[in-house]
Amino acid sequence: MLHRIEGDLHMEQVSLRKIAETHGTPSFVYSEGAITAAYQAFHDAFSMHPHRICYAVKANSNLAILQTLAALGSGFDIVSGGELARVLRAGGDPGSVVFSGVGKQDWEILFALEQHISCFNVESASELRRIARLAATTDAIAPISIRVNPDVDPNTHPYISTGLKENKFGVSVEDAMTLYQEAAGLDSLKIVGVDCHIGSQITELTPFLDALTRVLSLVDELEAQAITLEHIDLGGGIGVQYRDEVPIEIGHFASAIVQAMSGRPQSLMFEPGRMIVANAGVLLTTVNTLKSNNEKNFAVVDAAMNDLIRPALYSAWQEVTPVTLKDDGASPERHWDIVGPICETGDFLAKDRMLSLEEDDLLAILSAGAYGFVMSSNYNSRPRSAEVLVSGQEHYCVRKRETIEDLFALESMKPVS
Ligand code: LLP
Repeated sequence: MLHRIEGDLHMEQVSLRKIAETHGTPSFVYSEGAITAAYQAFHDAFSMHPHRICYAVKANSNLAILQTLAALGSGFDIVSGGELARVLRAGGDPGSVVFSGVGKQDWEILFALEQHISCFNVESASELRRIARLAATTDAIAPISIRVNPDVDPNTHPYISTGLKENKFGVSVEDAMTLYQEAAGLDSLKIVGVDCHIGSQITELTPFLDALTRVLSLVDELEAQAITLEHIDLGGGIGVQYRDEVPIEIGHFASAIVQAMSGRPQSLMFEPGRMIVANAGVLLTTVNTLKSNNEKNFAVVDAAMNDLIRPALYSAWQEVTPVTLKDDGASPERHWDIVGPICETGDFLAKDRMLSLEEDDLLAILSAGAYGFVMSSNYNSRPRSAEVLVSGQEHYCVRKRETIEDLFALESMKPVS
């Protein structure tokens, strides 16, 4: 998806320099082809078993990305009423939406019921009763699955582990049994599945298989009590390569999961986010100022932690590469910290990178398609970046750069007497 032509970095058939000239920097740029290929690879890998992929909207919720995935037949995993509204606006089918999250509000549950989503992934006893009550008051029947916390360690960053007892997500396997029994007695609920999601950026198969084993023992116990399920949702979490990680090969993942199902008839559901979009996106930024002291060289760029918070928040490593490779005779390579203009020491995008840099150089921060723009903010009153979608030879602005006026459009001053 990314390649160089005479030293110039291109996404599909478009030069990233051209994109920067047209749309400015900082800008997130996404490849429609790469998103399509990642979705298709997942879909094809599971062709031997009934399945549905519900793209995790939180990873990148731009309407054009959701539109691309909806056209491929993807379902969607949402965690808010706002995400449901986005899916609908992008042409997604509410009938293939699953609703996750530990704190669903009444209006969100009612909105989801009205749209006839495919399943609520229920995370607590209180939520189960709330959904049952709201469904009853609107004469609806809510399709539900219980999110099980299987207590397995996904060996990933602690902030993105979700399937351990100490995490706030889901309920234990034992509690799930009790909740299913309660749900079976409620007329406004229809039990359709079971759900688990153990974390994000997981690069080992074993935690997924351990989680599945625990979920399957619950499925069997439920069956013994005449509670049958239509689907098993294994969540998202499949890791990608940012640096030297070796991601799970999707074909290997699929065959191991299907084998572990040992002929059980339930369809499989997945909620991948990162693996569909992370490596389909870059953040383009321009070097503003170079400064050095005895210890360090700093390249201050026009993107910052408000645009891409992953390095600051998770110490995440993302590749930084010049958009145009330099001829011999350019300034020698040195170690640079790539930092933003924000007044925080934590405002860095990369540390200690060997690069030959000059002011006004264009850089691409790679693997920025997932949890990039969606986690951005206006900290330091910085307008948020533009977003651009590349498709073959075309490039479209799919979110305008915010203006200074946008920053205070919703604010007002107090009345002056
Ligand atoms: N399903 C549920 C219920 C989730 O909580 C998540 C992610 C996903 C699916 C999608 O997981 P994925 O396939 O993208 O790993 N901001 C962090 C990642 C947070 C993930 C939160 N939940 C980061 O930038 O690394």
